[in-house]
Amino acid sequence: VVFGSDVFIAVPDGARRAALLEMAAQGPVHRVTLPNGHPGWLVTGPAEARIALTEPRLARGTTGMAFVDELPEAAASLQNHMLNMNPPDHTRLRKLITAAFTRRRVESLAPRIEGVAAELLDAMSPALDRGDAVDLFPSFAYPFPFRVICILLGVPEQDEKELGPPFAALAGGTVSGLQAYGQAANTLLGFLRDLVAAKRRDPGDDLTSALVQVRDGEDRLTEDELTAMLYLLFIAGHETTASLLANAVLALLRNPDQLALVRAQPDLVDATIEETLRYDGVVQGTLTAAATEPFDLGGHTINAGDRVTVSLMAVGLDPALNDDPDRFVITRAADHLAFGHGVHHCVGAPLARLEARIALRALLDRFPVLEIAGESLERVPSLLFNRLAALPVRVPAR
Ligand code: HEM
Repeated sequence: VVFGSDVFIAVPDGARRAALLEMAAQGPVHRVTLPNGHPGWLVTGPAEARIALTEPRLARGTTGMAFVDELPEAAASLQNHMLNMNPPDHTRLRKLITAAFTRRRVESLAPRIEGVAAELLDAMSPALDRGDAVDLFPSFAYPFPFRVICILLGVPEQDEKELGPPFAALAGGTVSGLQAYGQAANTLLGFLRDLVAAKRRDPGDDLTSALVQVRDGEDRLTEDELTAMLYLLFIAGHETTASLLANAVLALLRNPDQLALVRAQPDLVDATIEETLRYDGVVQGTLTAAATEPFDLGGHTINAGDRVTVSLMAVGLDPALNDDPDRFVITRAADHLAFGHGVHHCVGAPLARLEARIALRALLDRFPVLEIAGESLERVPSLLFNRLAALPVRVPAR
């Protein structure tokens, strides 16, 4: 398998899940070739995934995305964040972010998150009420978490627009070209440095100000650590939640019995979110780690230098973890690793779940009937995200 050609950047909707189901049926650990030619391993089995994600002989680094061996300078600086680090450096940063990104901070955002959802639905309603098809991705699923992360980090509203294009270029990784990637990284690095300087001068009730001020004894974040942390929060905080929303809506519209169930019992919205994370997860796999020494995993010898990535999507589709895994059933107790596992387990999971609950409820309340407008859907070619290219919907004609 060439990691990057067949499974991971397959674009027709459903192709990725079908390929992963097939791979998972063949065994828990698979030999692959990474796009840069490195030998690698793809872990699809739930038990082996947990082992790999707590294995100290697997080390991450800034080229963890496995596209290339060397990143442009600004990109390397932004990529020097905790998701690419190992203990004890990772432990230090994780302590500082945990102290600043508290549950209280997340919960206090709820009214503003509700406001963002209502505003975007208001803007979409006239077209849908006229019977037009609307692409839910750019009109709702994407701008919703983007605005929320801007509110969380205290980005002034007038600056939000400026951030859209560089993030779009970066999210594609080097798929959109190394030069575009480097330029976008430069723009963002400048923006984030200015944001930090502004919050130092004039702190507010936002996470950036809290990160500027947070202390662990004598320890605090340096300037470069701050910008890399903010970059990670931005990327991790909007691409993912956007796809979670779109994938949830798609699964519900394709499974009318499940849609009827969650409409009748709105409390099932949380279970719908968990089932979406299992059935059509949004982060395809963890960032790649390299073996520092040989070790055995799932009956294979992983040699020093081999790269290992865990297919989080495949784990949720393994029949050992969930019966009848290719069916979307919101009432099952979905078991998944969609938020990762081990020391890098997602810091933003409580926020992502809160956002998804608010947005999905608001959308279902606003539009009592919706259907997919179009025959075939595609996924964006990406090694990292399982993102729809578009999700056209409309209110069906009576
Ligand atoms: C549906 C939404 C989300 C999903 C599925 C998701 C998934 C993940 C996964 C799988 C990881 C670990 C990746 C790996 O091990 O390579 C991770 C880490 C992380 N996530 Fe999320 N995430 C989501 C939303 C968010 C949000 C909203 C934020 C913040 C605002 C966030 C911040 C982070 C951070 C900072 C890390 C790095 C943790 C560390 O290295 O210790 N995520 N996320």
